[in-house]
Amino acid sequence: MTTAFLPPGAYRPPVDRWGTFARLAASLPEGSVAVVDRTVAKLHPTLLPTLEARRPRAIVQLTGGESAKSFTALEKVLAGGLSLPRSGTLLAVGGGTVGDVSTVAAHLLKRGVRLVQVPTTLLAAVDSSLGGKGAVDLTVRGRVVKNPAGVFHYAEEGWLCPEFFTTLSETQVREGSLEAWKMVISLDASLFRRYVRTPPALTKLVKDARRLKESVCSQDPYEHQGLRRVLNFGHTFGHVLESVSHFKLSHGDGVGLGMLLALDVGRLLGVTPGDVAARAEEALANGPGVPGRERAAALLRRAPLKDIVTLLGADKKAGSAGELRMVLLSAIGTTEVHDVAEHTWRELWPAWTKGVRP
Ligand SMILES: NC(=O)c1ccc[n+]([C@@H]2O[C@H](COP(=O)([O-])OP(=O)(O)OC[C@H]3O[C@@H](n4cnc5c(N)ncnc54)[C@H](O)[C@@H]3O)[C@@H](O)[C@H]2O)c1
Ligand SMILES: [Zn+2]
Repeated sequence: MTTAFLPPGAYRPPVDRWGTFARLAASLPEGSVAVVDRTVAKLHPTLLPTLEARRPRAIVQLTGGESAKSFTALEKVLAGGLSLPRSGTLLAVGGGTVGDVSTVAAHLLKRGVRLVQVPTTLLAAVDSSLGGKGAVDLTVRGRVVKNPAGVFHYAEEGWLCPEFFTTLSETQVREGSLEAWKMVISLDASLFRRYVRTPPALTKLVKDARRLKESVCSQDPYEHQGLRRVLNFGHTFGHVLESVSHFKLSHGDGVGLGMLLALDVGRLLGVTPGDVAARAEEALANGPGVPGRERAAALLRRAPLKDIVTLLGADKKAGSAGELRMVLLSAIGTTEVHDVAEHTWRELWPAWTKGVRP
């Protein structure tokens, strides 16, 4: 494919570069704009001096976390990029939140500038920094609505610097690992078998997950054909659990538990064979370390059933008649999308709220 006439941010096969930040930053054009997670800058004291040596137009520091996806933060990044020419580069150094707001900013500045993503969380490395999506949140009547204002703007390069992952907590590693295992379980049976035999090193996990996500996104870069739906395995009930925990349960852990519940739904509908569900659940426990079912039970017991129904109905994957459209595992590495009626998942409710496998 020729990429010569593609505007900045248009889909192109990603270029992943691995190395230390100092080595990779040597190729950053002078006069770029960098958006940096303040926490990462503190934990990695050579980060800012390395960037400054490249004579950037601006270094915008943001506090990582969902608040980085506000319009206020977006305005700060846009202000920092005001004098960036259309040929300029925006570099995003941080987790998924800094990456998401920077993606929106790169799309808006001069109607699109070049974006380079430097994911510093495992979740960003295996998932959010790839696939072109960026979004900011909106506060409506005091309630934060996640991701309603978004764009597709593909990064030209991803810089993978393992040094950043050394300061992640065990929880942060688990969250990213669960998203990575999601891709392996739902997309690649032979890789799954290898992972079960020998748990992968972190760099291998990142490489494999990025390859798998890219293989899906490249077939449907702007999500026109529904092919990217497979990436939502575990997300239907995952989002519900995140919500009812008031976001105390992290997204990665929510997806981990959401996969277990999706396996239950799949078994009930006869889509997921029992042995497949058992192997997947065991692998999620032994590999990335999915939280126990009792965690999901405690959250579900607290939430009125009618709130769960409302949350599921608001899910962007729900069908027009209110039935759920769920990604279910038909074999390791293979998924199917099924409509799931309310009375179906309600059968599982007693077991789910007791924390036992139905
Ligand atoms: N665009 C997409 O396709 C996509 C996909 C999945 C998730 N997301 C978005 O990603 C966001 C979640 O990403 P996240 O989990 O990376 O969150 P995050 O950016 O909030 O980072 C989590 C925390 O880790 C800190 N941190 C970052 N790098 C660190 C490091 N190297 N060492 C120690 N601490 C570090 C941050 O300061 C923050 O406090 C959500 O907003 C979600 O909507 C987007
Ligand atoms: Zn996810």
